[in-house]
Amino acid sequence: MRVLGIETSCDETGVALYDSDRGLLAHALHSQVDLHAEYGGVVPEIASRDHVRKLLPLASHCLAQAGLQRSDIDGVAYTAGPGLIGALLVGASAGRALAVALDKPAIAVHHMEGHLLAPMLEPEPPAFPFVALLVSGGHSMLVEVKGIGRYRLLGETLDDAAGEAFDKTAKLLNLGYPGGPALARLAEKGDPNRFSFPRPMTDRPGLDFSFSGLKTHTRNLVLAEDDDPATQADIAAGFQRAVVDTMAIKCRRAMVATRARQLVIAGGVGANLELRATLKREGEKHGWAVSYPRLAFCTDNGAMIAFAGCQRLLAGEHTGPVIEARARWPL
Ligand code: KG4
Ligand code: ZN
Repeated sequence: MRVLGIETSCDETGVALYDSDRGLLAHALHSQVDLHAEYGGVVPEIASRDHVRKLLPLASHCLAQAGLQRSDIDGVAYTAGPGLIGALLVGASAGRALAVALDKPAIAVHHMEGHLLAPMLEPEPPAFPFVALLVSGGHSMLVEVKGIGRYRLLGETLDDAAGEAFDKTAKLLNLGYPGGPALARLAEKGDPNRFSFPRPMTDRPGLDFSFSGLKTHTRNLVLAEDDDPATQADIAAGFQRAVVDTMAIKCRRAMVATRARQLVIAGGVGANLELRATLKREGEKHGWAVSYPRLAFCTDNGAMIAFAGCQRLLAGEHTGPVIEARARWPL
C-alpha cells in the first residue's frame, strides 16, 4: 500500500510517500523558520498562508521524486491535530479533497502518534512493546506503547513542554527563534557544572514533568550574572544538563515500572545530541535498547505521518467523509 502523508500542524510543511513493501519512497519539507524569525515565534496566520502556498507543489515534487502518478496513491494520511487550527485545516482540507478526487481512503493522523512511530522508519526499527519519551515544542510525555494505537500515558508535563522550555530559555539568552537548536549549540561551549540547576520533580515518585521552575531559575541567573559570552554558554550548558538529567531520571523510572527493554526518543527535542548520548549511555548501563529517528525525522515531517497513516490503513481504519482538524486532541 502506498500512502501520501501530509503534515501542516505548525511551521513546517511536510509531504512524503510511504510504501508498505518498499519503505519510504520520497519526502519533502519546507520550513517556515525565516518567515517567523522576525516575530520571535510562530505567527499562526502566516503559518496557514504559507502551507497554502507550499503544500501542493511539495506533493507534486514528492510524486516526481518517486516516479509516481497521483493514481498510484492508495490512501492519503494527514495530520488532524493537535496543532494550530488554521495550519491543520490546510493539510486536512487538501488531504481529504485529494482522497475524494482519487476515490481513495483518507486517514486523520494524530501528530504525536506520527512522532512516536518515526523511529520505525529507520533501518533497525524498535520492536513493540516500548516506552517512548515524546518531547516536542508542544508536548512532553512518557508513553507505554504495546502496538499501533495501543498507547498508555505514563506521565506528561504539568506546565511547559520540554521544547517550549528550551525556546523560552533561548529567548532569555537572546538566541532568537527557533531557540532549542541555538541553545544546544551554545551549550556545547559551556561548563554545565559552573551553576547549579534544579532537577524538577525528581525528589518525589511519579513520571510527570515540570519545566517552568527551571525556566524561572534560569531567568534569575541571567539577571544576576554578567552577560559575557562564557557565562551565557555556562548557563545554557547547565540548563541543558538539568533538562536532560531530569528526562533521563524519568525514563529510568518508566522503564522499571513497565519492565520494558526498549526505549524510544522522539519529537523535536529528540534531536538534542546531549539527550541522545545520555539516554544511549543509560541504555548500555541498564541493558535496554534505545532508538531514535534520524535528526530530520525528530522535528515535524511528512514521513512520520505517511508511515502512521499507512499502519492505520493496513489495520483497516480510515476516516469517514469529513475533514478532521482538532487543535487539542489527547493521544
Ligand atoms: O516536534 P517539533 O518539530 O514540533 C512540535 O511538534 O512541537 O519540535 C519543535 C521543538 C522546538 O521547541 C525546538 O526548539 C525543539 O523542538 N528542538 C530542540 C532541538 N531541535 C529542535 N530542542 C533542543 N535541542 C535541539 N537540538
Ligand atoms: Zn511535532
